[in-house]
Amino acid sequence: MSPELQIWHPFTQEALDSVPMRITKAEGVYLYTADGRRLIDGISSWWTNLHGHGHPAIASAMAQQAAKVDHVLLAGFTHDAVEELRDCLRKILPKGLAHVFFSDDGSTAVEVALKMAVQYWQNIGRSEKKGIVALEHAYHGDTVGAMSVGAESSFTHPFRDLLFPVHRVHSAYCYRCPVGKTRAACDIDCVEKLRRLLEEQRDEIAAVIVEPLLQGAGGMIVHPVEFLQCVRKLCTEHGVLLIADEVLTGFGRCGKMFASDLAGVVPDLMCLSKGLTGGVLPMGATVCTQEIHEAFVGTDRARTFYHGHSYTGNPIAAAAAVASCRIFEREPVFDRITKIAEIHRERLAAIRNHPAVGDVRSIGTMAAVELRADDAGYTSKLRPKLYKFFIDAGVLLRPLGNIVYVLPPYAILSDELHYVHDRIVESLALC
Ligand SMILES: Cc1ncc(COP(=O)(O)O)c(C=O)c1O
Repeated sequence: MSPELQIWHPFTQEALDSVPMRITKAEGVYLYTADGRRLIDGISSWWTNLHGHGHPAIASAMAQQAAKVDHVLLAGFTHDAVEELRDCLRKILPKGLAHVFFSDDGSTAVEVALKMAVQYWQNIGRSEKKGIVALEHAYHGDTVGAMSVGAESSFTHPFRDLLFPVHRVHSAYCYRCPVGKTRAACDIDCVEKLRRLLEEQRDEIAAVIVEPLLQGAGGMIVHPVEFLQCVRKLCTEHGVLLIADEVLTGFGRCGKMFASDLAGVVPDLMCLSKGLTGGVLPMGATVCTQEIHEAFVGTDRARTFYHGHSYTGNPIAAAAAVASCRIFEREPVFDRITKIAEIHRERLAAIRNHPAVGDVRSIGTMAAVELRADDAGYTSKLRPKLYKFFIDAGVLLRPLGNIVYVLPPYAILSDELHYVHDRIVESLALC
């Protein structure tokens, strides 16, 4: 007899990790377990949830949409929900981004951006421009194209022969500066490697992809805004497209609607997902300039962007996304974000000089503590100890190895956020 079907959980080593916890209710910032516990969702369920779980406006928008048009393909068809979402995005996106292409999640939004960038140059007769530049410590998702632009790691190692080659340039990881500078004595020197590369090879390079200002899975690395500004300037000077992967940073995470806004930068392509639907349904979107879109329009069908997913522009996901955008308009969401950012800064300043702390960094609603460890990295032995400590204390945090971070839903109350920071302070004794 064949074994009974079981669920294979993501990023999970069954032989070592604890049995998955059963969640029976999610409400506000809390996840409720079947054995009667309550956890603060300190990482917004993988950085997706914005306004708290079970927000009634999103739940009712989804229910109403499901009763109207549940799903229809987007090739040859359109519907009100996706057009309303386009209108909402039009209001909040950096000016200059003019077309939105929907997909399923963050990884597919990245795949779309990479393919658009490469085909754009082909469509305008520059097919030699097909190289992609990506940053050290980057993470852009787990599909093969997204892994190719992500930094090499134990996650990508088994697939290294499948990945396409990319040019790798420095990230502005100030705590571990790639060019040996201190922030005080630095003139964004880490961008020189990109400058040299573009000077020499701009005719073969299609695009530079970055996680703007905050590299997430690579270690919650916060870049100075000047780094992103320099990257934008270099891309413009050398005729190379800039792809901003705002899958994590979009929709207020960094303090403004988009991280690009904080740096006053408009990318040529922007990838969105995670918070797009308020964090309740999967949906991806890749936004591009008028100029890029125009290159795909013409009577020759070979110019077409032959890409699409079954659920592209799903009406229920679009209705959730519209409801989430309206919450930004109707509720004091940016006041909440500002308050979270203030608490993060104050609490990190208080532990900056603790002997167990190597670095603290924050941007908007993200706060991270890089702990000193002999085995720094995702597989640090601190990670399981810390994870268990936080769960036992009623907080869901998933440290990235020796890096503990908080990225809560915006609905978190000050007391709840202080509770999380208090637990982080206690956890320093484990190091
Ligand atoms: C910056 C960035 N890009 C892309 C992705 C991939 O998104 P998804 O997991 O929805 O495929 C992630 C996921 O964490 C991300 O942080």
